[in-house]
Amino acid sequence: MCGIIGYIGKSEAAPILLEGLRRLEYRGYDSAGLAILNGELSLRKCKGRIANLADLIAREPVCGSIGISHTRWATHGGVTDENAHPHFDQSGKLAIVHNGVIENYQTLKDQLIAKGHFFKSQTDTEVLAHLIGIHYDALPGEASRQRLVEAVRGALKEVIGTYGIAVMHQAVPGTLVGARRGSPLVLGIGKGENFLASDVSAIVGHTREAVYLRDYDIVALDGVDFEISTVNGGTSGFEVSTVEFSEDDVSKGDYPHYMLKEIFEQPDSMANAFRGRLSTEESTAKLGGLNMTPKELRDIERIVLTGCGTACHAAMVGEYLLEHLAHIPTEVEFASEFRYRNMPMNKDTLVFAISQSGETADTLAALRESQRKGHRTLAICNNVASTIARESDGGVYMHAGPEIGVAATKSFTSQVGVLTLLGLLLGRIHHLSTSEGIQIMEELNAIPDKVRTILKQSDYIKSIAEKYSYAKAMMFLGRQFSYPVAMEGALKMKEISYIHAEGHPSAELKHGVIALISPEVPSVFIAPDDSVFDKNVSNIEEVKARKGPVIAIGTEGSTKLEKVADDVIYIPPCPDFLSPLLSVIPLQLLSYHLAVKLGCDVDKPRNLAKSVTVE
Ligand code: G6P
Repeated sequence: MCGIIGYIGKSEAAPILLEGLRRLEYRGYDSAGLAILNGELSLRKCKGRIANLADLIAREPVCGSIGISHTRWATHGGVTDENAHPHFDQSGKLAIVHNGVIENYQTLKDQLIAKGHFFKSQTDTEVLAHLIGIHYDALPGEASRQRLVEAVRGALKEVIGTYGIAVMHQAVPGTLVGARRGSPLVLGIGKGENFLASDVSAIVGHTREAVYLRDYDIVALDGVDFEISTVNGGTSGFEVSTVEFSEDDVSKGDYPHYMLKEIFEQPDSMANAFRGRLSTEESTAKLGGLNMTPKELRDIERIVLTGCGTACHAAMVGEYLLEHLAHIPTEVEFASEFRYRNMPMNKDTLVFAISQSGETADTLAALRESQRKGHRTLAICNNVASTIARESDGGVYMHAGPEIGVAATKSFTSQVGVLTLLGLLLGRIHHLSTSEGIQIMEELNAIPDKVRTILKQSDYIKSIAEKYSYAKAMMFLGRQFSYPVAMEGALKMKEISYIHAEGHPSAELKHGVIALISPEVPSVFIAPDDSVFDKNVSNIEEVKARKGPVIAIGTEGSTKLEKVADDVIYIPPCPDFLSPLLSVIPLQLLSYHLAVKLGCDVDKPRNLAKSVTVE
């Protein structure tokens, strides 16, 4: 949610910033801008995509080797050129880019207006720029890095809210200052150049040495050095990490879209989630990152899984999985509800925050709330060193590699994969036998190849997507393990094709949903050969009786479906509890191909951002 990148070194800043912004565009794409410091500050910004900013810079070039830039997902103030970042202070000598929300901006703005300040935008960020400018001007002494840091510190003490910022001042040309609270910010350490960015993917083409800043850190950097302190004026410890992935991992390669690339990466991303975590010797999963003793694991009485969007759907599969494999009562709560709900939970309740990015504001708040109440709170994250991963009491990394497409795909299957490992681990210390454990492990290890066989049907699924591209609405229906998959299939369809889609348990049809069925509203039934297959077939018949077209996802060899459904997509056989890992793949491909057919911007759907760091 908003991406920022800053550069200080010897190279031309604008091309580096533009390239970095392209890598961060998944965080927001309402407007973009940059400011370059070369004696004076030059500003280029406009609404729309990074491509628009690149065109503007081609027409009106800017030179200089120090700069800050931003791609925006609008919160305060509409999508206009004026509201695009960077913003300047009253003097026009200080520029800032900001990711986050300044909650008390209106009060501060009113006070500043009373003092004679003029604002050009409706943003909260411009207020912060003015505030830092006031502090800078009020501090005694020569222009210096320390004075700029003190000014940022002074202003941040006055604001309530979240921020990841990069600041520069015309009078201090050799310095960039960054700070964070609640929004991610990474320092990239190069050779004779340094970077600030919301995400390492923006800088990985230049350096793989990074410091993941912590909340309340302030960093001051020049081309060769950096210094980290805190908003309160103390010193801050830091660790230099090596980024696990390379520039190739964050490029589309030969795929037309990140989403398609990420769908096709799933055999490998799932194998990576299982790698080194299945012990044939003990016929169980090994998840050392949970930081829990066997006794503590045995004492778990209840599990709460929380997350947002796709992560919440993975959690819903997790609920079925953990209750089925480990017989431990499990509940799912949207993170946004959990944080305010004050759920009654006994002390042996284990909480999991599930988040691909590890930065989603609601999930982070749920994690903090759970810890405040004294619950051990673990994370299932993809982004190493993300805030949720760092603040949790332990957890499991997904190792799925960077996911750039805004619509989550491989993170869903990796999250479900990790939850299956958890189910196996907890099941084995309760009631599962050695042979049952071995059997589950064999089935898990077979999943990546089964996914490969589904991916081979991409062209066939494309033909089905094109056949139904007339639809204005679609229903996604499934039972038991396939119900959360129906929810996820509907979400994918809505997100990227803008077709109204609903996910429901198949049997709920007759309690209301069936009123929506008509020849114009196709239904997608997730009906693998499981314990409720025949019940699902009856629900399909109910839809057909109302002339609703039906696409079914079924198990190879299950010929019954061909008699009732208009189109069938087959997945290989597997145990019921593993079917979500397979049945979701055709749904991802169906929504992808349909969105492409409709000419939608698959990787950057309207109004969305990948990492939602505001409430
Ligand atoms: C956003 C994205 C969704 C994602 C959700 C949770 O809404 O558009 O695709 O599922 O955030 O993201 P997380 O990073 O916490 O898994």
